[in-house]
Amino acid sequence: MIPQIFRTRITDLFGIDHPLICGGMMWLADAAYVSAVARAGGIGFITPRSFPTPEDFREQLRMAHDQSDGKPFGVNLYISARPEANELLETFLDISIEEGVKFIESAGFSPKAFMPRIKDAGITVMHKCTTLRHAVSAQNAGVDAIIILGAEAGGHPGRDMIGTMVQGATVPQELDVPVVLAGGMGTGRQLMACLSLGADGMVLATRMIVSAEIWAHPDYKKHLAGLNAGDTRLIMNIFGDSSRVLSNESSAKVLELEAEGITDYEAYRPHVQGTLQKEAYEDGDWTKGTASIGQSVAFAGGIEPVETIIDDIIAEAAAVRDRLNGL
Ligand SMILES: Cc1cc2nc3c(=O)[nH]c(=O)nc-3n(C[C@H](O)[C@H](O)[C@H](O)COP(=O)(O)O)c2cc1C
Repeated sequence: MIPQIFRTRITDLFGIDHPLICGGMMWLADAAYVSAVARAGGIGFITPRSFPTPEDFREQLRMAHDQSDGKPFGVNLYISARPEANELLETFLDISIEEGVKFIESAGFSPKAFMPRIKDAGITVMHKCTTLRHAVSAQNAGVDAIIILGAEAGGHPGRDMIGTMVQGATVPQELDVPVVLAGGMGTGRQLMACLSLGADGMVLATRMIVSAEIWAHPDYKKHLAGLNAGDTRLIMNIFGDSSRVLSNESSAKVLELEAEGITDYEAYRPHVQGTLQKEAYEDGDWTKGTASIGQSVAFAGGIEPVETIIDDIIAEAAAVRDRLNGL
């Protein structure tokens, strides 16, 4: 592992070596992955909904604890706008607190309702959002850091589809808490750009799917490794909540339904249901499922250990800093 080169408010907040945050990834961000990220000097977040039961999630936390060499890792909590849909989230939060989790990446709706419990438990929380307005309200609710997502991101890039470069040039300046930039990231050049814009670090997600410690089938990873930035599709615009996903048969089918103006969600369900995606990761058949994939898939090279990917990003950023110093 490369020793610390870039110390920022984010490395201090999480007690990590590098300003690299590996965002939660449904089905994929498990104990093996987040502990590899921890050992490589970044921080990763386990996605509790990926496991069959809450007790399986607890087991993953214990495994991550054992495999992280005492380095930090966290939990990703997706908050729904509908309180009744957050019942399971309360269970995940209970288990996280019982198991001594110290870091949470929240996403989706405002974390405000959960902040008293999170803060009473001494947990540091970083909230992920797509607009300055939501970032300010999360800061006011007491979060410790913000991830601001740009339109290039895999998953839900937000309604306004603001590019990461513009987010970076507008959001950090308006907030007191540290800000990390997400969406389309995967290189050391971009890490330097994030720091130049006033952010305290960068988020990686799509770039990491090809890492050796991610359990997905090698055929799936090999397919991603051959893709370019244009190989994603924006789907589900018709429901007002777009997702950036892999270009494949399932996403093409969804786009056809949208073009026909169909608004009955049931017509979409066979193509977008999460279990289909899980199967695709299991058997390597990338043609099915609507996997969150960002434009950063362009940077997903061959299958390599997490540590190699992170070391290369930090080394490249250091080389860019030297080049800039010489200008
Ligand atoms: C396969 C995959 C699954 C994801 N699942 C989640 C999730 O469960 N919760 C969440 O908050 N974000 C999720 N995200 C979003 C990432 O954490 C991150 O915000 C985003 O992907 C960053 O953009 P990038 O993919 O261009 O790096 C997922 C992203 C990917 C690629």
